[in-house]
Amino acid sequence: MLEVFPETAAVEDGELTIGGLGARRLAAEFGTPLLVYDERTMLEAARAYRAAAPNAFIAYGVKAFPNVSVLRLLAGEGLGADVATLGELTIALRAEIPGERLIVHGNNKSVEELDAAARAGAWLVVIDAPDEIELAAAAGVERVLVRTTPGVEADTHPAIRTAHHGSKFGLPPVQTLEAIGRARDVGLEVAGLHVHIGSQLLDDSAAIETVEWLAGFAERCRRELDWAPGVVDLGGGLGIQYVPGRVPPSIAEFVETIVGNLGSQWDSVDLPRPQLVLEPGRSIVGRAGVTLYEVGAVKEVMGSTKYVAVDGGMSDNPRPQLYQAQYTGLLANRATEPPNGNYVVCGKHCESGDVMIRDLPLPEPRRGDLLAVPSTGAYTLTMASNYNLVPRPAAVLVGDGEARLIRRRETIEDLLDLEH
Ligand code: LLP
Repeated sequence: MLEVFPETAAVEDGELTIGGLGARRLAAEFGTPLLVYDERTMLEAARAYRAAAPNAFIAYGVKAFPNVSVLRLLAGEGLGADVATLGELTIALRAEIPGERLIVHGNNKSVEELDAAARAGAWLVVIDAPDEIELAAAAGVERVLVRTTPGVEADTHPAIRTAHHGSKFGLPPVQTLEAIGRARDVGLEVAGLHVHIGSQLLDDSAAIETVEWLAGFAERCRRELDWAPGVVDLGGGLGIQYVPGRVPPSIAEFVETIVGNLGSQWDSVDLPRPQLVLEPGRSIVGRAGVTLYEVGAVKEVMGSTKYVAVDGGMSDNPRPQLYQAQYTGLLANRATEPPNGNYVVCGKHCESGDVMIRDLPLPEPRRGDLLAVPSTGAYTLTMASNYNLVPRPAAVLVGDGEARLIRRRETIEDLLDLEH
């Protein structure tokens, strides 16, 4: 079970510890629900990307968990940032990521966003729609990638699949060729191509298919446009393990396969090897994060279903509702007690769909226990809502036996401040 927890997770005297700190102490000091991020897990993930592809540019996919401290930590490992909105661009700048390490995305960038990207001196702006070419040039953007959709159907949830034909992202092949030509005509430097296949990929088959397709497409670009991509950005996508069972490839395996394939495919079409860019989000921060909840009401209904309710739910983690995502968990203060049955972990929100885990074996939970839900570092807090006017949780970074608040807990006052 601890394999889905962060690197430093351990059980000491029956209590879950992360970064050398006991769950009870963390909950007492910072309150619950609390997102606990393990520094070492994030650093190791960042280093694994750098080691597997030393010549690639690795841009952290900020959307997975936009946070100044995390961005600074990753920047210290040589990572840049992939941002998709003005908000994400602004937080990357707040973390002092230099413009030349920024990649700006978005399938519907506003003029304000393009202006901000140009002002920041972003290394690359990724063209996602035909009329964005003129808007980008007018904003003073210098260098672009064109995002293309090869028609690859990644084996993942349909909502997070992005490179299929009919996707709202990027341009189909023929429109991509037109966009490259037009962008060059208006004076933009077209540095290369971008494909993001999809997210939570549990094998490398879609990535291999995409690289093969891209090599053929690069060859076609050279023939038809006398232009070839100097940069190939394959986006993010490597998945993480949420529950015991199917294990995704390691970062090293996944990235080394991509690097090897890119080299051989490009050699086979006789083009100079491009610079590889990767934009991992989930595989950097996902496993590093554990959510601590406090157990409240426990009840058995109809003599069979045992509910254990926690002090958060679909507001701090909507992934079970959005993607039927599965999670596991343990009682952090009674981690070695044997289970006495299977429980349905539900949240405190006013709908029956607010269920986080369906069948979780636990020792009989009691009010005040702590439930730790691992693999919650990516796409949880960033997608959190204030449903039922529940303030969003705090986040702490743990390492070397210390915890540092990296995002304060929202208050009801914060929410009421928006009223007019
Ligand atoms: N680059 C681009 C252009 C992207 O659209 C994404 C994610 C990434 C990089 C990072 O992908 P990752 O390495 O994290 O898979 N909310 C969903 C995930 C949405 C992913 C959106 N794009 C979830 O909770 O599963």
